[in-house]
Amino acid sequence: MLLRGRHAGLLCVLALLGASAVSAQQPAASPEQEPLGPGYPAWLAYNPVDASAVFGAPESIPDTIVVLGGDPLEHTAAGELVRGWRGMLSHVPRVIAGPTPESPRAGDSIVVVGTQAELRQWRPALASGKALGPDAYRLHRAGNLFVVEGGDDRGALYGAFALLRDIAEQHSLRALDETSQPWAAIRWTNEWDNSNGTIERGYGGPSFFFKNGHVMSDVSRAAAYARLLSSVGIDGCTINNVNADPKLLLPENLKAIARIADAFRPYGVRLSMSVGVASPMDIGDLPTFDPLDPRVAAWWRNKVDEIYKLIPDFGGFLVKADSEGQPGPSHYGRSPADAANVLAKALAPHGGVVLYRAFVYNHHLDWRDPKADRARAAYDIFHPLDGKFEPNVIVQIKYGPIDFQVREPLSPLFAGLPHTNEAIELQITQEYLGQQRHLVYLAPMWKITLDGDMRSSVSAPPLPVRDLISGKDVDGQHHTMGGFVGVSDVGTDHWLGNPLALANLYAFGRLAWNPTLSAAAISDEWTRLTFGNDPQVRDVVNKLQMDSWHIYESYTGPLGLGTLTDILGPHFGPDPQSAENNGWGQWIRADHEGVGMDRTVATGTGYIAQYPPPLEKEYESLKTCPDNLLLFMHHVPYTHRLRDGKTVIQYIYDTHYWGAQAAAAQVPAWESLHGKVPDATYENVLKRFIFQAGHAIVWRDAITKYFERMSGIPDNLHRVGHYSGRMEAEDMKLDGYAPVDIKPSETASGAKAVVCRDRASCSVSTVWNQPDGWYDIAVQYFDLRRGESHFTLEVAGRKIDAWRADENLPDFRMNGSSSTRQTVHNVSLHRGDTLEITGQPDGRELAPLDYIEVTPSHGPSASHAANHPTEKK
Ligand code: GCU
Repeated sequence: MLLRGRHAGLLCVLALLGASAVSAQQPAASPEQEPLGPGYPAWLAYNPVDASAVFGAPESIPDTIVVLGGDPLEHTAAGELVRGWRGMLSHVPRVIAGPTPESPRAGDSIVVVGTQAELRQWRPALASGKALGPDAYRLHRAGNLFVVEGGDDRGALYGAFALLRDIAEQHSLRALDETSQPWAAIRWTNEWDNSNGTIERGYGGPSFFFKNGHVMSDVSRAAAYARLLSSVGIDGCTINNVNADPKLLLPENLKAIARIADAFRPYGVRLSMSVGVASPMDIGDLPTFDPLDPRVAAWWRNKVDEIYKLIPDFGGFLVKADSEGQPGPSHYGRSPADAANVLAKALAPHGGVVLYRAFVYNHHLDWRDPKADRARAAYDIFHPLDGKFEPNVIVQIKYGPIDFQVREPLSPLFAGLPHTNEAIELQITQEYLGQQRHLVYLAPMWKITLDGDMRSSVSAPPLPVRDLISGKDVDGQHHTMGGFVGVSDVGTDHWLGNPLALANLYAFGRLAWNPTLSAAAISDEWTRLTFGNDPQVRDVVNKLQMDSWHIYESYTGPLGLGTLTDILGPHFGPDPQSAENNGWGQWIRADHEGVGMDRTVATGTGYIAQYPPPLEKEYESLKTCPDNLLLFMHHVPYTHRLRDGKTVIQYIYDTHYWGAQAAAAQVPAWESLHGKVPDATYENVLKRFIFQAGHAIVWRDAITKYFERMSGIPDNLHRVGHYSGRMEAEDMKLDGYAPVDIKPSETASGAKAVVCRDRASCSVSTVWNQPDGWYDIAVQYFDLRRGESHFTLEVAGRKIDAWRADENLPDFRMNGSSSTRQTVHNVSLHRGDTLEITGQPDGRELAPLDYIEVTPSHGPSASHAANHPTEKK
């Protein structure tokens, strides 16, 4: 049977929606029922809303969606609107697809989706007077018509998502009139996926692009990801690690990668790839990869032509070269501009671009040289090349001059390329920021860089970084393109592992679209879209998110020192000394007198001179340098006084104690939402907050001890080194357990732990000789990346807790990255009771124990009453 007109269109859209020819009564699937597993819908939860707040009278709720164009993106928009209607409004609208001569019935309330050109043809009066640019949209209301008008088809899709956002946030659409365009053309994520299925610095499970060296046969999760990206206006995705596997450019792999591009396409997301500049030698048969060799240029031209045959909308290449062991043009005495341009020329005829990373530095610096400074590298290398790049090259600059630290000053390179296209590189995955086991909402930190003022003189108008990367000509600077890149590293486990961390992916997209939005407003949007509009949920989640960066910074990287983590290990736990005395250049220059890198022009590395004069002046002087960047810019004695009169050393002590307390307070705050957020999300996040509270203590103790040892200056408040209720495992009665030294020493209490070797189980015990009462018992132990030791805690012969060390924390060694705790609350203890912990090792994880800490509790009425046996899996 051949259907014509509206019914043919309707069927076509229903076909696009798969089997979702749904009934109006069907509720939205819960996250756990979603076909792609828990966490799948993310902020596109489409929770039910109060429709009257949005539309007024029930008859104003549109029951028809008219799609004017035949373009797949508009059909995606229609499908998404149907999904949104179904979840939020419990309605399934009919869809009329294709330019239709029929007018919808008078009185119908309708959503019309189309490009400006299509709208002008259909009903010219409905189209905007002003031309909408690429990707832009206008939403407006004309009587009972809700018009989603795109500058192009992708704009129409973005407009549909914006309309759904308005509905989810229960904004009244009575006077809808909203025009929006993206800030910059490049809005990409970078995924650091390896072809073996792992993800470099990924903390949300394995790759959904690759497995065992091949592209996954099922790319539905890739499509679902493109949908998420598109919903916040992200238009590109680089699917493989910057430390690129050249084999991905082989013909058979490109064919498979084209399937991912096909999955992205209906959402307007263009696929791009990281490439190594040595590919012509690695997988071609050339004896060279010299970018100025004509054979190399021809090789790239052929490779690019081959890619575009398979992926006609291919976005381009991302390049990491001459960096951390990656080969680069310096091998032939050529510059980054030479390397970028050979690729750019091959891509230009097809409309592709090159994102060339400014993350180029020597990691064999001489740490004894007081003038050596990794922070200088990007500017020193790229500034002299300004104006030498092809117009389709964009230099991709990390927000700070080092490497995604908890705090860095803005990279001076943003002001150093007035005639070169620039993009900012932000990191969504929390490599140095707690790896999604700690909550850190990153938008407040990103905003500081985006708003950072790079004006050339105090009398000049402000020149924020967000303008420099917009791709527009600003303040005499010439740019043709620019944008935002977010290193996302999503995987199969809730995308980013921690459901609350998805606010960072969301915020990245929203800021790439409009960097003038506030971090607080974005958090609130995300919270409402994810959890609904309950005011209590909004208050609690927004406060947790907005406070989180400050809390994390306070116990991991004070006064601009950067994250004081194990830079030679997994970048997770504390190890300040690892930054020193090696070629990596993340030095903090802590000695017995003082701390901090002297980057001044007067006496230091001269890095500060890379900034425009107003910032140079501010940073150079101790009087004006902000406290939170003090130790990035200056080396000062521990007794140097900060603005509030506190010494640097006392500030370090105080802030770590405050931070650990603030981290602990997140637990009850989240608990107040029990029953108000989905159970699986609640449990997942609660577990992480409990971990974070314990790990913040590991950080607090390690960093304060390190600086006490370095400075020789005690804490005014006598906290450091004095831990009430703490009993070292090595001081307890040991049965089978043996003491071992822990390195670095400050990452274990008393610098030692006990391990159980060559036995099926061992135990430690002690007799309680304090007053009778109710207590919390925290057991500090190490949960290594391999092995699942088993522990039991007994009091007076009665088992009160048992648990497995099954978190697989990211280190194979016992140190600050693997140290964690199990706490039993409200245990009744009597003088003379024996406290005993039994550990059963598993493989190379020797059931390691550090200490127990017994602190008075509030008694059995508290929510965690646990003075009964429990068995935790
Ligand atoms: C960091 C990170 C690496 C990554 C590099 C980069 O150094 O630890 O895993 O490859 O940044 O951005 O290229």
